[in-house]
Amino acid sequence: NRPKVLITRPDIPAGGLNLLKEQCDVILWEKPEPIPRSVLLSKVQNVDGVYCLLTDKIDEEVLNAAGPQLKVVASMSVGVDHLDLQALKKRNIKVGYTPGILTDATAELAVALLLSTSRRLIEANRAIYKGEWKAWSPTWMCGPGLSGSTVGIVGLGRIGTQVAKCLKGFNTAKILYTSRSIKHAAIQFGGEKVELDTLLERSDFIIVTTALTPDTRQMFNKNTFQKMKKSAIFINVSRGDVVDQPALIEALKNGIIRAAGLDVMTPEPIPLDNELLKLDNCVILPHIGSAAIETREEMSIITAKNIMAVLKGVPAEMPSPLQL
Ligand code: GLV
Ligand code: GLV
Repeated sequence: NRPKVLITRPDIPAGGLNLLKEQCDVILWEKPEPIPRSVLLSKVQNVDGVYCLLTDKIDEEVLNAAGPQLKVVASMSVGVDHLDLQALKKRNIKVGYTPGILTDATAELAVALLLSTSRRLIEANRAIYKGEWKAWSPTWMCGPGLSGSTVGIVGLGRIGTQVAKCLKGFNTAKILYTSRSIKHAAIQFGGEKVELDTLLERSDFIIVTTALTPDTRQMFNKNTFQKMKKSAIFINVSRGDVVDQPALIEALKNGIIRAAGLDVMTPEPIPLDNELLKLDNCVILPHIGSAAIETREEMSIITAKNIMAVLKGVPAEMPSPLQL
């Protein structure tokens, strides 16, 4: 009488997959691509637990299709904007996610993206292959350095704090942040909590690490881009929907800001004819923030343990429950 668990992708790291296979009847979506909605709605029937990814929308319809025996939904992600938390809470379904363990990997990627954008690494690399590198040049491929700069972190949480600690090592002059509360961790990098408008006006580099919520959806729009410096560099590692993307494209084309580095966008994957892909001042990555090998392995194990704790009847032992 083993519990049934749906895993929405076959290629999850071995650690988590093996843990679940030892103790459950695992139902897999067999292709290495997001599970189609209709398949999700049919495979979820009668399962006790769901192991999902940020590409799976878990809403009323899915929960209704699952049935009343569903006890736990665990997402292999820190973001939970793809889960209808109210619907889960109403049914008393436990929710697991993977904060903390991906903090260093995501911060590392944010810093890499920031440097790639500011120092024009991708553009410079492409220039070699295009035969545009004629000689060492005093003015070619220059971009702003971090030393002495002001960095603004929008939504200072675990990831933003780690980004700030890394950037302090580059001799930045000042780190500003926005957050609903004063963050004691900000003492470690001398961070100053400010209003969003102040951050936008003063920062040379703006890094978004906030969760996507109704409050942060499209918070970067024509109005907010206008408030930034013309020399500002905008980095987003949170969710594409915190940005009004057509407004960002306009800002990049018209010199309202200097450049953007995006690990997230709308939609994902981005269509190849999207304007963002035509801009030299935009560095774009395919949502790989947490894609460090050890991190993904650990995320799969935590997700499996979140599920097993609930199915064994000890939800208090979930490694990372989301408080609903
Ligand atoms: C990645 O975006 C995550 O939410 O884990
Ligand atoms: C956001 O989820 C964070 O961990 O900073």
